[in-house]
Amino acid sequence: MDLFSEIEEPEREELKRLRRELEEANYQYYVLNMPTLSDRDFDFKMHRLQELEAQFPDMYDPKSPTQHVGSDLGKKGFETVKHKYPMLSLANSYSREEIEDWVRKLPANVEIVCELKFDGLSISLWYENGTLVRALTRGDGVQGDDVIDNIKTITSIPRHVVGTPSSFEMRGEVLLPWERFEALNKEREEQEEPLFANPRNAASGTLKLQDPKEVARRGLDAYLYYMLGEDLPGTTHYERLLTAKQWGFHISDAIKVCHNVDEVMAYIAYWDTERKNLPVATDGIVLKVNNLAQQEELGYTAKTPRWAIAYKFPAEKQLTLLKEITYQVGRTGVVTPVANLEPVQLSGTIVQRATLHNEDFIRSLDIRPGDRVWVEKGGEIIPKITGREERSISVPCASLARTLEDEEYTFPTVCPECGAKLVRVEGEAAWRCPNEAGCPPQIKGKIEHFVSRKAMNIDGLGEETIDLLYQKGLLHNIADIYDLQLGDIAAQERLGEKSAQNMLAGIEASKQVPWARVLFALGIRMVGETTAKKIARVYNTIDSLRQANAEQLCAVEDVGPQIAENIVRYFEDSRNLEIIARLRQAGLQFEGEASPFRGNEGVLAGQSIVISGTFSHHSRDEYKELIEAHGGKNVGSVSKKTSFILAGENMGPEKLKKAEALGIRLMTEDDFLEMIK
Ligand code: IVH
Repeated sequence: MDLFSEIEEPEREELKRLRRELEEANYQYYVLNMPTLSDRDFDFKMHRLQELEAQFPDMYDPKSPTQHVGSDLGKKGFETVKHKYPMLSLANSYSREEIEDWVRKLPANVEIVCELKFDGLSISLWYENGTLVRALTRGDGVQGDDVIDNIKTITSIPRHVVGTPSSFEMRGEVLLPWERFEALNKEREEQEEPLFANPRNAASGTLKLQDPKEVARRGLDAYLYYMLGEDLPGTTHYERLLTAKQWGFHISDAIKVCHNVDEVMAYIAYWDTERKNLPVATDGIVLKVNNLAQQEELGYTAKTPRWAIAYKFPAEKQLTLLKEITYQVGRTGVVTPVANLEPVQLSGTIVQRATLHNEDFIRSLDIRPGDRVWVEKGGEIIPKITGREERSISVPCASLARTLEDEEYTFPTVCPECGAKLVRVEGEAAWRCPNEAGCPPQIKGKIEHFVSRKAMNIDGLGEETIDLLYQKGLLHNIADIYDLQLGDIAAQERLGEKSAQNMLAGIEASKQVPWARVLFALGIRMVGETTAKKIARVYNTIDSLRQANAEQLCAVEDVGPQIAENIVRYFEDSRNLEIIARLRQAGLQFEGEASPFRGNEGVLAGQSIVISGTFSHHSRDEYKELIEAHGGKNVGSVSKKTSFILAGENMGPEKLKKAEALGIRLMTEDDFLEMIK
């Protein structure tokens, strides 16, 4: 190795590391809806990678994250379709200087349309002869998933339009309004489901659900901002948006034509404040060249148009004192550290608590009480601690009367609620309290979960009442609910006869709650609402579920080894069996309706089946159910593991090509129905 390559070596390593990091960040963001990097950090790393790639052209790789946009493909159950026009991203800018740099490269006296940059996920809507026929996610920019059934739940997106060209495309952003986002997270908190970090992740997770009814319930909205196609009216982008508005599309009123950078900056300053009053999340401004002929002339880079750029609002950030770390015990025993902060004003709200997630998170930031920490609230509505101020060694920490020097953070070894020794399962980040039956927040949390709306839906038995009845020794587990007597409840100070009667009526009504929800209500670890439904469809009695082993359970869609083991363990615990026996005695539903397709169960066991095209006897969702009811798995994309393709009319050309290349069998719907008959 010569001297030069030795000097270059660390930079080449950095280049490779950045590619890996950005690839992973794209996957976390687009596929899992769990961002790990802030947008700003992502952009900085991307810039650095671009710099390094320019320095080392021999390391060119068409698969580098600099060469393609992130991909949200990979969710099951949607047809993947090629975009007519690639769906590109936008270059970002963060300052007046960067905007000036961009404007300098445009024709003189150019008109610039300023728009809000909506913080959701982009959607491409195809209209043919006035009817909405496809709704594609961005996917990898070249092809996207068709989520039309979910898009049709958005009332502000017209399904039919009149007076339009016969074929055109509208692009825009799907969003979950703040109000809906907060309600959804509140619900998820009650159910101990992971919270969405921001409305964008919530919208993205919602649009990829397989159940349009649930999508409709969550209440998505959309703003449209771009029209594409041949022979469209107008010579400017602005005119086209006004036309789209007349056709009935939801176009923001905030669009404005600007003539110079001063006007653009005034628009930015106005909306950086005013956006806090909008019903939906925005994270910046988009600047677009107004004249369409000029747009065409400017053209595109591999990933972004040259005729548009985004300006990102700075994330709000504050330094404050970390006064204390307290620990919260959830219903499943997970101990979560919480930062208690000196109250600080951030994006219009006062922040005084923030989750610290787990021990590893605290260690990675190297923070402890007495530190001054950075609290951020950008696109993430939930405040995050992102770092700490440099410690001034040997200066005593005023509030703690000690120095912070060399003091290592240690996670508690015993449960702050019941004193049991905490355990950390290998491979998991969380410490847990194993004292399920004796730890008060776990006992109360399980009861709260059991009575919650999506589980047994027992009115009149809220958090406070559960706490009261627990304190009085009347409630120790979920089965005790069905032993409650009118006199016992009415005798409590805060309750009285009327509320006791309401509560008992709610308890009585819960005996009709169907098996799938009872299963969810039992609170088996990681068995959420949807998983419980899927399990109950295959195991339609609690006895058949109890007898299943882990391997058999893994055949159910969404059930992996971890969930299967949790179920098996649950039934191995004699205390749980005792509770189930009492609930059964009380009259709860431990049996579901037999699946209409049962009797021939298992013909598709172990098979992975792709559904493609349109069908005449059943809908795609019904075929999906049929596949699952017969033990098969419905998968989204064709691979060598695919057993066969259930092929309808107009099967997607990409899938067809891949199936031919891999020699995968196509089955008609008649043959399929015959097979499972
Ligand atoms: S125009 C070819 N306009 O921002 C340009 N995009 O970071 C197409 N976005 O992928 C995009 N508000 O999802 C445009 N008013 C707006 C927008 C907007 C939000 C999103 C869009 C895009 C992303 C790029």
